[in-house]
Amino acid sequence: MSEQRVLSGIQPSGRLHLGNLVGALQNWVRLQEQYECYYFIADWHALTSQYADTSNLKEYTRDVLVNCLAAGLDPEKATIFQQSRVPEHAELHLLLSMITPLSWLERVPTYKEKQEQVTDKDLGTYGFLGYPLLQTADILIYRAHYVPVGVDQVPHLEITREIGRRFNNFYGEVFPEPEALLTEFPKVVGTDGRKMSKTYNNCIYLSDSPQEVEQKIRTMMTDPQRIKRTDRGDPEKSPVHHLHRIFSSTQEQEHTAQGCRSASIGCIDCKKILIKNIFKVLEPIWEKRRYFLENPSLLDDILASGSARAGKAASETMKLVRKSMNLQ
Ligand code: TRP
Repeated sequence: MSEQRVLSGIQPSGRLHLGNLVGALQNWVRLQEQYECYYFIADWHALTSQYADTSNLKEYTRDVLVNCLAAGLDPEKATIFQQSRVPEHAELHLLLSMITPLSWLERVPTYKEKQEQVTDKDLGTYGFLGYPLLQTADILIYRAHYVPVGVDQVPHLEITREIGRRFNNFYGEVFPEPEALLTEFPKVVGTDGRKMSKTYNNCIYLSDSPQEVEQKIRTMMTDPQRIKRTDRGDPEKSPVHHLHRIFSSTQEQEHTAQGCRSASIGCIDCKKILIKNIFKVLEPIWEKRRYFLENPSLLDDILASGSARAGKAASETMKLVRKSMNLQ
């Protein structure tokens, strides 16, 4: 077990899907065996854009926790917590705001992009501009070495390192330089062939019932050129094949790809193999979801004790920070 720390967060902005499972959660589960891991539900981050209506926040927070546990995060191995229960993140965010040039925040690519894309909310807020700085505080407060994230988060890691360096220059070495651990996984496509994303409404959710998963795969897009059963198809053009590459054995991938090209297998049979393999991954998750959903007090305990443990680590860093800044 390495002494080095891993930290990552996930926003409770909706239900989690297969893309989150393969792209993030499974990686988190592997890392908990090797490092001291801190994983949290970034509820304050969700507020940076979803501030006007917070009525779903509790439900989403619970759903993210249940999915993390069902996917195999173990509260005995990793510290699993809720950001808003560790107020030290906010104190560090405030202190870092003193040394952060506005221009650094304004040039983070996600800032302008998201402001332009999102038209149903006003993102001209102080909190939204400060999103990457709050993330910086999340990472630095655990003096984390590694941050497992997707490529979209690389600019946030960049600014984290810059701010950590600036702090160390002013006040002395407190923070190590954190590194992104990029999740080396192909994008998971959704039922329509685009990237799986809740904005496209093409997701297979971890909370879907077996019937819903089966139905979604049965009606999933395939090679649009293959209309009749006797038509030869191109597996590369079929999102079903893309999912086979993630969830099926090499043998099954070859069998279905070859069968598609030669029209020796129909789309329904090809999908049945995929359904069987996705069920194999989801069945233990469904079972654990059921268990945790039936034990809500267990969920409360896990989040409370994880947050207390995180708070201890965070308050140790804050002591160093206050001392180095001549506050206390
Ligand atoms: N911004 C991250 C995302 O949207 C979530 C997040 C918040 C995070 N704080 C973090 C990820 C700290 C890693 C480390 O995916």
